[in-house]
Amino acid sequence: MSTQADSKPWTVPALVEAKRAGRKLVMLTAYDAGFARAMDAAGVDLVLVGDSLGMVVQGHDSTLPVTVADIAYHTAAVARGLKRALLVADLPFQSDATPERALDAAIALLQAGAEMVKLEGAGHKLEVIRFLAERDIPVCAHLGLTPQSVLKFGGYKVQGRDAAAAARLRADAQAVAQAGAALLVLECVPSPLAAEVTAALAIPTIGIGAGPGCDGQVLVLHDLLGLDSGHRRPRFVKDFLAQGGSVAGAIAAYAQAVRDGSFPDDAHSYAS
Ligand code: KIV
Repeated sequence: MSTQADSKPWTVPALVEAKRAGRKLVMLTAYDAGFARAMDAAGVDLVLVGDSLGMVVQGHDSTLPVTVADIAYHTAAVARGLKRALLVADLPFQSDATPERALDAAIALLQAGAEMVKLEGAGHKLEVIRFLAERDIPVCAHLGLTPQSVLKFGGYKVQGRDAAAAARLRADAQAVAQAGAALLVLECVPSPLAAEVTAALAIPTIGIGAGPGCDGQVLVLHDLLGLDSGHRRPRFVKDFLAQGGSVAGAIAAYAQAVRDGSFPDDAHSYAS
């Protein structure tokens, strides 16, 4: 089942309507026009130009070297491939350190074709979210494992596992929504906690390693296609190319699995 009439472009208000209607949101990362076109044709609802491009496209060990110019370049390419999916672009490392820097970066990304910007964290980022939202820039928040904090975390680890961390995540999720975020990505969070956060919020949640209880799912394109990233393969990654038989088939199989609730299953989630 598609989440909107296939010809109708997604809008930010339509995301909340989808959540209210109980329709799952299908999201993938893309970095160029060709894959973006394939995702649009397969009925993917949201496309993210993620700073994961630092790892999967540029070959770095983290997302930290990615610049606003990098994201703007790939956003412009992806935008040319989309007719229907909503285009989200990442604010890269420290481009959102202050509200003013974030506004400059967000303007560059929206002018390149993005319709929403994503930023990691809560804390001082709440002021940034509020500053952008008040200026009519749609914001997607990102909590749980926030890869730009890899140095602080000491690696890519599941977040929210103990009671204190879970309470902090619940509070942060409420805070980013109150600050004006229109969407929330939850990365590497135990499934019961992600489901609880999802039920408590009016805005949709998009999970990656956060279990089936989120309002939608996102995967990195290279992971969906089973490409070896040169890094340890996280538990939530699934190769849909094997099942789909072609790039278009893999994207369609992923979209179908998200919509019918068969992905992610327990084998691709964290119970605790
Ligand atoms: O950069 C990215 O691709 C992301 C997704 C993994 C959510 O942030």
